[in-house]
Amino acid sequence: HHCFSKSSDGFLYCEGVRIEDAMELAERSPFYLYSKAQISRNFEAYKRALEGLRSIVGYAIKANNNLKILEHLRELGCGAVLVSGNELRLALKAGFDPGRCVFNGNGKLLEDLVLAAKEGVFVNVDSEFDLENIVTAARVAGRKVKVLLRINPDVDPQVHPYVATGNKNSKFGIRNEKLQWFLDAVKSHPNELKLVGAHCHLGSTITKVDIFRDAAVLMVNYIDEIRSQGFELEYLNIGGGLGIDYHHTGAVLPTPMDLINTVRELVLSRNLNLIIEPGRSLVANTCCFVNRVTGVKTNGTKNFIVIDGSMAELIRPSLYGAYQHIELVSPPPQDAEVLTFDVVGPVCESADFLGKDRVLPTPAKGTGLVVHDAGAYCMSMASTYNLKMRPPEYWVDNGSVVKIRHGETFEDYLRFFDGL
Ligand code: LLP
Repeated sequence: HHCFSKSSDGFLYCEGVRIEDAMELAERSPFYLYSKAQISRNFEAYKRALEGLRSIVGYAIKANNNLKILEHLRELGCGAVLVSGNELRLALKAGFDPGRCVFNGNGKLLEDLVLAAKEGVFVNVDSEFDLENIVTAARVAGRKVKVLLRINPDVDPQVHPYVATGNKNSKFGIRNEKLQWFLDAVKSHPNELKLVGAHCHLGSTITKVDIFRDAAVLMVNYIDEIRSQGFELEYLNIGGGLGIDYHHTGAVLPTPMDLINTVRELVLSRNLNLIIEPGRSLVANTCCFVNRVTGVKTNGTKNFIVIDGSMAELIRPSLYGAYQHIELVSPPPQDAEVLTFDVVGPVCESADFLGKDRVLPTPAKGTGLVVHDAGAYCMSMASTYNLKMRPPEYWVDNGSVVKIRHGETFEDYLRFFDGL
């Protein structure tokens, strides 16, 4: 069961709510529309997959930081993965247990590390200077910090280079030739650091579980080596990165069950707790970005559908050439010509497209058009370019459309200036 489906008469629904009806209710267009139940289902899939293992599911807040969504995931039993002091503050506000939170990043700031140390979250060590800062933070906070070493395993995730993180020339993690330096450094700070685990994150949009398996094999070898030096490691954190079916071709992609099953025996054989850090696979398919067609035009050999949403609200197609499926929310008029369109916004540059070469019926002005799988890295990466203020967000909860974040307004923007 998936939350977005088309009825036989051609209307798109989110859990029993016609998107056209949600458009009538929304404070403005464009907006994001989520299914609360789909978020639950996605989390349950991880929970089922992890049965029989000691584990923490750390939701990568960067994927979507709506407070209501965070609270919902926390209620379901999720932990959180953070990459900034503000993400940590927000996670605390949402009620996440600091003992189920992990602070990641290659450029963590000292002040944020102090907060992390005070709160008692796990901290991943990324570099020599990072370790130094964590030691300082532990002293300032007066608390020993539980650390994991972020290993750079040099595994190719076979994804867009912008979202590959675990190859040897990336800016992330610790290469094996430096491992001993880090172990010695941890040993020499027994009052500040407790080494509890090893972490890796290979990249994002990964669609082959063999890649996780290869990394896990390397990681347990590291763990064996580190344990042989007297450290009592308890945690293997294999990061996030599971991809989703953006193309809607019905291709069979690995599920959380497939992912966990491929590492389960390794984890059990070393008596480890497993930490995973999913972002996209928990939230991406729970949301549509809902737009209204402003008009249709033709230039040269190209047909364009111009909508009110743009690269400002949803930048993944422009930034990564990412494909997100697009469809109209209502049946086209009988005589609508089916053409190949670029779906573009009103922003003042040609990078502003949501989809290229999409075969769609020619829509009438005002028709609803959705960009699918917009729950991860869409709203959280939105900008206010061209002063297109960030859109409102709604979810369908038990059959009703509920606003879960206001749209930003022009008045909000003016607040940054004195004397207005
Ligand atoms: N853990 C770490 C250390 C990460 O860096 C990330 C994502 C995750 C977990 C969650 O990965 P996920 O399960 O969501 O793939 N903006 C890009 C994606 C960047 C991912 C950054 N790191 C996009 O829109 O595709």
